[in-house]
Amino acid sequence: MIEFYPKNLIKGRIADSEQPAISARYKLNDIFCTAWLSHAVTAIVEHKIADLLNEKPVHVDELSQISGLHSPTLYRVMRALAANGIFVETRSGEFAHNEVSNLLKTRSSQSWAAMAKMWNHPSCINAWLNFADCLADGRSGIEHAFGKPLYEHLDETDGATKAFADAMISNSAQASAAIAQGYDFGKYKTVVDIGGGVGTLLVALLKAHPHLKGYLFEIESLKKSACNYLQSYDVLDRSEIVVGDFFESVPSSLDLYLIKNSLWNWDDQRCSIIIQKIRDAIAEDINARFLIIEYVIDKENAEWSTLYDLQILNMPGGKARTRAEYTELLNRNGFALEEVLYVQDQTILVAAPI
Ligand SMILES: C[S@@+](CC[C@H](N)C(=O)[O-])C[C@H]1O[C@@H](n2cnc3c(N)ncnc32)[C@H](O)[C@@H]1O
Repeated sequence: MIEFYPKNLIKGRIADSEQPAISARYKLNDIFCTAWLSHAVTAIVEHKIADLLNEKPVHVDELSQISGLHSPTLYRVMRALAANGIFVETRSGEFAHNEVSNLLKTRSSQSWAAMAKMWNHPSCINAWLNFADCLADGRSGIEHAFGKPLYEHLDETDGATKAFADAMISNSAQASAAIAQGYDFGKYKTVVDIGGGVGTLLVALLKAHPHLKGYLFEIESLKKSACNYLQSYDVLDRSEIVVGDFFESVPSSLDLYLIKNSLWNWDDQRCSIIIQKIRDAIAEDINARFLIIEYVIDKENAEWSTLYDLQILNMPGGKARTRAEYTELLNRNGFALEEVLYVQDQTILVAAPI
């Protein structure tokens, strides 16, 4: 079992204050090591190793016996993960769960396993292989790799739409439950989630607010999975799936319009069209509200939100924005920013029609 020194570390190495060039090299090296770590996590998820551990520690030989994997190699991967805070090596060769590895179990409502698969999905990897080309013309790595936009590419790639939709559920499950408590949904009767995936947020809202009727607005290819998802949470009778294209129109005359982690997929011009369609749908109803739920870049979250921005540039070719940039988009398209709320890593921008 590896023991770490407790102080003055860069990822387990003594940072050298006398020779900053050495610490600088450690920092750069750590960045690339972390990329390898993500592949190790994905491999462990692919082989469902987190599902084989429960309360008690399990020896790697037993894990390899059940999974059929090569024991010495499985040990090296588990050791690397445990050394980086994912699983705990309780005794030599014996591993137990910690809070992080628990999220890698596939059979859990909070599971993050589908995200771990998506980030190293061949579509993502190919996009990153082409990332350097984004700098030449601002187009996404996906377009450089496959010659078409993300959603067209996913539609034409076996299993990709499902893999990405599963990842959205995986990413949204925790946050959606918190969002359902993070705003006064009690004053509305109808709510529509525009580009709501299979309905993760809608389910959380309908569960937390039994008086609400919910609409899920999505593309055709997600209809079946959305129907199954809403049914599995027993809210199909209080919801309706509307298939459509938010660049054409969205359902009209509803009380509350939500769009979560979808606007950032698009450039300013396309975002303006989506917001205009929502404004058209609200028409004269000054009591209706529009909530943008997004990863909004600010000083506090810049370390990760600016990296999310690169990911979103690389995949759908979109961009993460600051609050000022969203305010500008809202004002240009018939809305005023009324309130800003923070729920976990999400920012909620509450907009009123003007
Ligand atoms: C990044 S995902 C966000 C999903 C969900 N809101 C969440 O937070 O988990 C973007 C969603 O927009 C949907 N979408 C993409 N293009 C669309 C279009 N033209 N009209 C309606 N929905 C669309 C996708 O199918 C996808 O589910």
